Amino acid sequence: MTPVLLIAAVASNGVIGRDNALLWRLKSDMAGFRAATLGKPVVMGRKTFESLGRPLPRRLNIVVTRHPGLSLAGAVVASGLDVALAVARAETLRSGATEIVVMGGAEIYAQAMAFADRLLITHVEAAPDGDTFFPLIDLSVWAGRDISAHPAGPVDDYAFRVVEYRRAARSA
Ligand SMILES: NC(=O)c1ccc[n+]([C@@H]2O[C@H](COP(=O)([O-])OP(=O)(O)OC[C@H]3O[C@@H](n4cnc5c(N)ncnc54)[C@H](OP(=O)(O)O)[C@@H]3O)[C@@H](O)[C@H]2O)c1
Repeated sequence: MTPVLLIAAVASNGVIGRDNALLWRLKSDMAGFRAATLGKPVVMGRKTFESLGRPLPRRLNIVVTRHPGLSLAGAVVASGLDVALAVARAETLRSGATEIVVMGGAEIYAQAMAFADRLLITHVEAAPDGDTFFPLIDLSVWAGRDISAHPAGPVDDYAFRVVEYRRAARSA
């Protein structure tokens, strides 16, 4: 099975967004997002797709919606997460991409956590008021490894660190 990556930027209080938008500008993190997703099929909820304003280029955009017949320019529409992952798998076979990326939002992360092989989480050093949250990362299930740390700066509203989580090996 093609591995599934969940990618998200999460505040220290678990917030990921408000009013269908992000709560920060982290240009350096966007470069990391681009590098982690380019050439791979990306699965997202309909609200996240709308928040982007346009499809992400050079990635098959797969959008999950309960509205049958919805047509979105530049995206493939899927009636459920299972359908979206099947479409994404077919795309990896076609393109040779090594991974499927699930890129939010909260509703989709909550459903996709069970299918994820890897989490790439940008931990943002802020605790803003928000209305959407990343699921709790259970550290008895997931083992984290620090990838990088960045200070706040002219193009980054807050300091952040990137952590990769993989499923922890179970002890016998
Ligand atoms: N910080 C980050 O890394 C990050 C990443 C992504 C998004 N976000 C933020 O997250 C927020 C959006 O998240 P959200 O939870 O409100 O929305 P979402 O997960 O992006 O989309 C929710 C929509 O997906 C569809 N959907 C969900 N589960 C489905 C299922 N099982 N079958 C069929 N369709 C399904 C429904 O679309 P229909 O209503 O069309 O049926 C639902 O309304 C925004 O604030 C965004 O900026 C943050």
